[in-house]
Amino acid sequence: MEESAGNLGTGCKLILSCNSWTKHSEVAGLVVIKSNYKHFPGGEGSLKSFKMSSIASKFIRTAGKVIRCRAAVAWEARKPLSIEEVEVAPPKALEVRLKILHTSLCHTDVHFWEAKGQNPLFPRIFGHEAGGIVESVGEGVTDLKPGDHVLPVFTGECMECPHCKSEESNMCDLLRINTDRGVMIGDGNSRFSINNKPIYHFLGTSTFSEYTVCHVGTVAKINPSAPLDKVCLLSCGISTGLGATLNVAKPTKGSTVAIFGLGSVGLAAAEGARIAGASRIIGIDVNSNRFNQAKKFGVNEFVNPKDYDKPIQEVLADMTNGGVDRSIECTGNIDAMISAFECVHDGWGVAVLAGVPNKDAVFKTHPMNLLKERTLKGTFFGNYKPRTDIPSVVEKYMNKELELEKFITHEVPFSEINKAFDYMLKGESLRCIIHMEEET
Ligand SMILES: NC(=O)c1ccc[n+]([C@@H]2O[C@H](COP(=O)([O-])OP(=O)(O)OC[C@H]3O[C@@H](n4cnc5c(N)ncnc54)[C@H](O)[C@@H]3O)[C@@H](O)[C@H]2O)c1
Ligand SMILES: [Zn+2]
Ligand SMILES: [Zn+2]
Repeated sequence: MEESAGNLGTGCKLILSCNSWTKHSEVAGLVVIKSNYKHFPGGEGSLKSFKMSSIASKFIRTAGKVIRCRAAVAWEARKPLSIEEVEVAPPKALEVRLKILHTSLCHTDVHFWEAKGQNPLFPRIFGHEAGGIVESVGEGVTDLKPGDHVLPVFTGECMECPHCKSEESNMCDLLRINTDRGVMIGDGNSRFSINNKPIYHFLGTSTFSEYTVCHVGTVAKINPSAPLDKVCLLSCGISTGLGATLNVAKPTKGSTVAIFGLGSVGLAAAEGARIAGASRIIGIDVNSNRFNQAKKFGVNEFVNPKDYDKPIQEVLADMTNGGVDRSIECTGNIDAMISAFECVHDGWGVAVLAGVPNKDAVFKTHPMNLLKERTLKGTFFGNYKPRTDIPSVVEKYMNKELELEKFITHEVPFSEINKAFDYMLKGESLRCIIHMEEET
């Protein structure tokens, strides 16, 4: 029977007859599905045992070996990604190898692909917002085992350093975000190669590959019944926006919140403001097409800076009797960051920066703006600790406290990953889910 499942080397062919993306993740979750498996005369029960045994045996067969699979390689800045066959080495000590099932594109991928981030590093495999299954684990890994459902996260949690032990920080000393590093921290080498030439990692996740290797401290184990094609969004953007509001800005009931940038991060921040009971949620974006969409996320007033010939912080001060109570910046644009700070009310206003700035950006404001008792903060990943906190954010989705579907505006098969870049660059998409398994 395994023979008829096709090429077990990549794992892609295990799911030949599924007819929807959701079903793919259900298969991956080893859940019985209703499907047209003509090749499995024993019906769904035998299909289930086939899947369980074949997936488990496939993982046993690949453990400890190099896996050859497809990855989308960025050979140079701003050039379309190229789908290549890469070799993925087995995980070393404290590492895990993941089979990625669904990934999505966040603006941070685009930012580093455009080489606006720190040091351009190519060839590289981007991708950091994803859901997958543990394929194998390296020496010393006790928290995860093959078959576990996981979200890789770009910033980790070693659980032992002062940051991990502090309730106030998610900036782990060992595993905090590092955009310059393109190798594993254990031995300074890449686990990806093509013809023995290394391909760099990105953010320790590199999820634009059917298989990837991560440090165990950057992998959150989640409820196996959570649909990975939805909760993959919690591995970066949505958690970041939500946490930026709920964990960092902390608006009170009835307050006024300004959100700069109405992409997924900004709209998740708006969701946070709605959940916190803010009564005015003002969305600021240079793309007016965002406004209609943003209504679904609780944004109830809109401002396009292009419609005014004075600084947007002054417009907001006029609208709010002196300034907003909280602002959350989710653009990456330095002028928007400064406006987001200067638009908060003196005495109590708090501004939170979440956007990733260009490498030469300088934040300039008059110190008097701070002296007047405004607070400026920043956050990575909404201050969530990935391993400790993300499983419960997944549960918020499972309990219907958090809707993820409305962030998904596009879906493409892996072979069409470049479309996801086009949608984001044109400002058309919120999140585009990229399905690693091709529909057949
Ligand atoms: N801090 C973190 O942990 C973290 C995590 C994820 C993403 N990010 C960053 O958050 C930002 C948003 O990510 P996204 O995926 O939602 O991007 P996105 O491209 O989907 O959305 C960005 C939005 O900002 C708007 N915008 C751009 N310049 C603006 C300006 N000057 N004024 C007002 N609006 C402006 C755009 O029109 C767009 O609608 C990016 O900078 C990304 O790198 C940070
Ligand atoms: Zn991201
Ligand atoms: Zn730590």
